[in-house]
Amino acid sequence: MAILLTGIKQLLTFKGGSLPRSGAAMHEIGLVKNGAVMISGGQICAAGPEKDVMRHPMAKKAESRRVGGVAMPAFVDSHTHAVFAEPRLKDFSMRLTGASYKEIKAAGGGIVSSIASIRKQEPCAMVEQLLERAHKFLDCGTGTIEVKSGYGLNLVSELKMLRAIKAAALKTPLEMVPTLLAAHSVPPEFKDDAERYLSYAIEKIMPAVVKEKLAVFADIFCEKGYFNPAQTMRYLDAARRFGLGSKAHTEQLSNSGGTLAAARSGAVSVDHADFINARDLKALKASGTIVTLLPASNHYLGIAKYPPVKTIMSAGIPVALATDFNPGTAPCWNMQFVLSLACLRMKMTPEEALTAATINGACALGLGGRLGTLEAGKQADIAVFDVGDYRELCYYFGDRLNRMTIKKGRVPRLK
Ligand code: NIG
Ligand code: FE
Repeated sequence: MAILLTGIKQLLTFKGGSLPRSGAAMHEIGLVKNGAVMISGGQICAAGPEKDVMRHPMAKKAESRRVGGVAMPAFVDSHTHAVFAEPRLKDFSMRLTGASYKEIKAAGGGIVSSIASIRKQEPCAMVEQLLERAHKFLDCGTGTIEVKSGYGLNLVSELKMLRAIKAAALKTPLEMVPTLLAAHSVPPEFKDDAERYLSYAIEKIMPAVVKEKLAVFADIFCEKGYFNPAQTMRYLDAARRFGLGSKAHTEQLSNSGGTLAAARSGAVSVDHADFINARDLKALKASGTIVTLLPASNHYLGIAKYPPVKTIMSAGIPVALATDFNPGTAPCWNMQFVLSLACLRMKMTPEEALTAATINGACALGLGGRLGTLEAGKQADIAVFDVGDYRELCYYFGDRLNRMTIKKGRVPRLK
């Protein structure tokens, strides 16, 4: 039976199709006052002014649910490291004494310090832990997340992480898009030999992952002390040959050339972009790559300088926003907090930030045709918030104003 959501004070449709939004299109949120949405078979049949939706031929027989508040597409969080066994509290304490990212790495902390606990963790415990986190994402209005591997860094444990994502995805309404991040860091047993580890990742891990269809994307961390641009190209080109899409962590701590390499490999997104330059932007424009900004990591790392979003947007490049949820640089699953940071620290407008968190996030996962807007034919992934005006989502920071998250048309009971 069709379901009719009514009484929506502000409905944000982001009407305008499947493609990523850039420039002035990032201001078009498709605002409808007194809106309604009709859902059938997990899809949207109509979304717009209540009086128009009520005239739809299916409206009379539909089950009506008065939801109120502000409704919009559920957030698409296109960059997370949501599988990790333990929080990195030692790193946290070091950070509070003023230690930098590099100093924490030199002291044995950072990414490699998450390896041992992941390698030890039982697969079922990994799945349970991810399911608990999935609830938290849904509770914040997020309907889809990308989840990376990257703390196993050997064949057995990278497979274990990706299998856990697959198993958890069967048990939660939250949609999870898996990414193979075998090139997150060089694991200790390879003793800083990035070339040799990369060959192992490409020759041993990647084919096994592809054989089991465990990943949609491949990702690499291009940064001094991790992987260089030539290695980035090599890894992402191999990924393409294996039929995986590509993404890359680039220019997070310095400009190390990852963006150019990723753009040449046809990456769907480059993520972080703190130190992106004019040459990078030109390459991204040509390759049609999205820039995904992760301001929660700047916040957590205490980096005063945020990515140059205005320069990126002025170059006509679509921007997405994501949490980067991970134990070392962004222990945050709440997209609403990311919206606040985007506005307050990067001076994005609420309209730009919300576009970046919905349709552009969907496009950064290659899912713009199915997710990210509320238009007839799209999947009914809708977040409803307890506010009267959408700008309040960016304004009240630190809260979680989500009232319900509807996934594939399934309307949960009100909180
Ligand atoms: O996106 N930069 C590399 N990867 C993560 C950090 C992951 C970690 O520290 O565990 C990031 O910030
Ligand atoms: Fe990351």
